[in-house]
Amino acid sequence: MFPQTRLRRLRRNAALRDMVRETSLSPKDFIAPLFVTHGTGIKEEIKSMPQQYRLSVDELCKHCQKLWDLGIPAVMLFGIPEHKDGKGSESYHKEGIVQQAIRALKQAVPEMIVIADICMCEYTDHGHCGIIHGEEVANDETLEILSAQAISFAEAGVDMVAPSDMMDGRIMAIREALDTAGFEQTPIMSYAAKFCSAFYGPFRDAADSAPSFGDRRAYQMDPANGREAMREIESDIEEGADIVMVKPALPYLDVLKEASLRFDLPLAAYQVSGEYSMIKAAALNGWIDEERIVMESLLSIKRAGAKMILTYFAEDAARLLAKQ
Ligand code: PBG
Repeated sequence: MFPQTRLRRLRRNAALRDMVRETSLSPKDFIAPLFVTHGTGIKEEIKSMPQQYRLSVDELCKHCQKLWDLGIPAVMLFGIPEHKDGKGSESYHKEGIVQQAIRALKQAVPEMIVIADICMCEYTDHGHCGIIHGEEVANDETLEILSAQAISFAEAGVDMVAPSDMMDGRIMAIREALDTAGFEQTPIMSYAAKFCSAFYGPFRDAADSAPSFGDRRAYQMDPANGREAMREIESDIEEGADIVMVKPALPYLDVLKEASLRFDLPLAAYQVSGEYSMIKAAALNGWIDEERIVMESLLSIKRAGAKMILTYFAEDAARLLAKQ
């Protein structure tokens, strides 16, 4: 008790603060999400995500070499297909954009961990994350497409797959499909607690994946439900997930913390497009100190229990850490 206890004693100078600091960030914590598109020499800035780009495969390889040299171990790939249709056919085609990117990247930067997002919304003409019947996304039929994507990415040489669709039973379906095809060593990072969030807005602009009718409330989680998030995570672990994710990150730190107390497998958090764009927009207006806000938000996500962070700030943060 005060005056014997004075918590300020250990804050008096930088060396003391360093000694007692509980959480630290490293480039090894980061996974950089990247958008890959057809063509060559393409580096097209995404309007709602300043300094994030749609990259052609050649540009992607150059970019990933740079990230690897900064100490960032992994990337998450999202594909922008040439053609969209009702079944999202390009998503499981041998020459699909993500398959091409995986093959090229494993040649160019062999040690980098290449993770591929599994979902249908970027590849369907209706923009929903599954097969549509009327206005309904058909769960079990969608599992077949997701499994086909997983096998196709694995055949291209992907290091890990990450289903983000929120269908029930997808982890089990994908695990079985991978195992049957001889890819029993390919880990699954599950977007386990993925909320139906307005924070995905800029991503849908980037990936051109906004639903053409309705919304995603019938499959993504209600932002009000923390306990249900634990059930989602638990069932994905039972179905064979190797890593589980909470998404978005900053507005859901309570969910992340609770998950880290309950579950012992590695936890990922996704600082999503809206989180990125809000910081960027305020910074570009000169309203906030971008560097400090970026590092504070990433540190908070780690403090809440994330072992790894998917973040569009991966490169910026790695550069800042190198300067420190
Ligand atoms: C695909 C997917 C989305 C994101 C990751 N995978 C979009 C969505 O669910 O609408 C969002 C990522 C971000 O906002 O940065 N289903």
